[in-house]
Amino acid sequence: MRAVVLVGGFGTRLRPLTFTTPKPMLPVGHRPIVENLVRMLAAAGIDEVILGLGFKPEPFIDAFPDGTCAGVRLHYAVEPEPLDTAGAIRFAADHAGINDTFVVVNGDVLTDLDVSALIAFHRAKNAEATIHLTPVDDPSAYGVVAIDSEGCVERFVEKPAPGTAPSNLINAGTYVLEPSVLQRIELGRKVSIEREIFPLIVDDGRLFAMATDDYWIDTGRPEPYRRANLDMIDGIRRRLSAPGIEPGAEVHPTALIEHSLVSSGAVVAPGASVHDSVILAGAVIHKGALVRDSIVMGTVGERATIIDTVVGVAGVIPEGATLEHAFVPDPTAV
Ligand code: GDD
Ligand code: MG
Repeated sequence: MRAVVLVGGFGTRLRPLTFTTPKPMLPVGHRPIVENLVRMLAAAGIDEVILGLGFKPEPFIDAFPDGTCAGVRLHYAVEPEPLDTAGAIRFAADHAGINDTFVVVNGDVLTDLDVSALIAFHRAKNAEATIHLTPVDDPSAYGVVAIDSEGCVERFVEKPAPGTAPSNLINAGTYVLEPSVLQRIELGRKVSIEREIFPLIVDDGRLFAMATDDYWIDTGRPEPYRRANLDMIDGIRRRLSAPGIEPGAEVHPTALIEHSLVSSGAVVAPGASVHDSVILAGAVIHKGALVRDSIVMGTVGERATIIDTVVGVAGVIPEGATLEHAFVPDPTAV
């Protein structure tokens, strides 16, 4: 079976990190998010992944030069312009010639879902489309789904106004679709699967959903992105884990690394201390600096302190400075 992974979004909410790296290429547990997704799909027997590319396709092509990822064949479908989620699915599926049941995954969601269980549920219900659901406390930032006792979807509401959500079960971003769904997606314009296509399938009574309490996180904002990384060292993922300090990271013996990830290609100088943070390849934490609750791709100067701060590739925290709740460089200034 084949799968489409949607990786063409702008990653706006993760700026400045996504100025240089598209969101699905940002590492979680020292591996690109998209590689984590491909591994999940491979475990369910998916043998080809079609990457639905738009914004910045080159980093994906460069990262997997032999056209495979985790042993799975990759097919690149580069949209001429952003087509939104359904438009992107149709474009990618047409590009790869999909004509059988297939899987779709949002490129920023990480989960321990057993995708083969979702496929089995889809077949048992004779559904046209099946969505994975997960419960959350505040559903208003997501697609919210109401189901009957059989798992048949009664309503799908994308990002309802706070307080109006019909349930606390949300679209978790993994779907099983029949090729007939593609015929519902008009060509040549932006179409959202959440706002236009799912409601049409609901009207025909053929949209089903399966809720699970598997680990699930949408990495599309700084706080959950950092959390997703820390979860990989906290041992709470079903089959996955990562070392805090990746081999190849340059961490001075007098530096203190506590509950953090430091990737290969990052440097942490003498006397620096890093807590609950994610230090990515290319980052340099200079002598005596203190980094807490932060994500760093750039440079933190000597004796500087950053707390709850996101530092992009071009970000430089001056020597001795103190910053809290900041984005460097400021993404809104561009
Ligand atoms: N190729 C392509 N083209 N991909 C796109 C486009 C596009 O025009 N627009 C968005 N994407 C990709 C993004 O890169 C991302 O992987 C995925 O589609 C979902 O887009 P997001 O921007 O992350 O959406 P969201 O997080 O606000 O909401 C979606 O995910 C939630 C779960 O995390 C929706 O599917 C919600 O219903 C869902 O609850
Ligand atoms: Mg998202």
